[in-house]
Amino acid sequence: MAPVALGVLVSGRGSNLQSIIDAIESDRLDAHIAVVVSNKRDAFGLDRARSHGIKTVFLDPKSYKEQSNSREAYDRAVLDVLQVHGVELVILAGYMKIVTSVLIDAYEGRTMNIHPSLLPSFPGLAAQRQALDWGAKVSGCTVHFVTEGVDEGPIILQASVPILEDDTVETLSVRILEHEHRIYPEAIQLYAEGRLAIDGRRTRIVESVKREV
Ligand code: GAR
Repeated sequence: MAPVALGVLVSGRGSNLQSIIDAIESDRLDAHIAVVVSNKRDAFGLDRARSHGIKTVFLDPKSYKEQSNSREAYDRAVLDVLQVHGVELVILAGYMKIVTSVLIDAYEGRTMNIHPSLLPSFPGLAAQRQALDWGAKVSGCTVHFVTEGVDEGPIILQASVPILEDDTVETLSVRILEHEHRIYPEAIQLYAEGRLAIDGRRTRIVESVKREV
């Protein structure tokens, strides 16, 4: 099968984007990044992409503020960029903006997100803080398909991380991030191999099915 054309959406540091770039460059991931899009002008993820010769686009949410459905209008602009660049699979990588049905419907079953907890525990913002405050003994990370409910889509891969007695948000985040950098490229590779089949709430990892675009 042809390498998957990825469109990666970032808002900040972009370490997950970097793990995907590294996996592609070391032939662990059969994909290429067609474009990186950000809602933040100064997102370091954009610098990372540029330094690898990857096309980047910044779309300013403020430019869509005046429109009646500003979130949808913004996502239509994102969608245009993704489609112009021939993106097959959309990767949310630290994209701190809720995506609307405009994007989700156009890329149904073809949009992935990574979240720093074992979903369905601790969805939303500050997942590592939530896990510590709750007194959980185990947390981790989840790669899932994106649906309309925030952090609710079918789970693809998860990794668990023990919470240690003296953990802070920072130390726990670092240990979770190591696993994020491993399982996100793995999940994308499963997609690239046509091995992900969504079955209701479950994502089955199958022998191989033809990717349908
Ligand atoms: C990652 O920990 C990612 O799981 C999290 O933001 C961080 C982005 O880091 N995403 C969310 O919390 C989404 N709800 P990165 O920019 O270095 O990839």
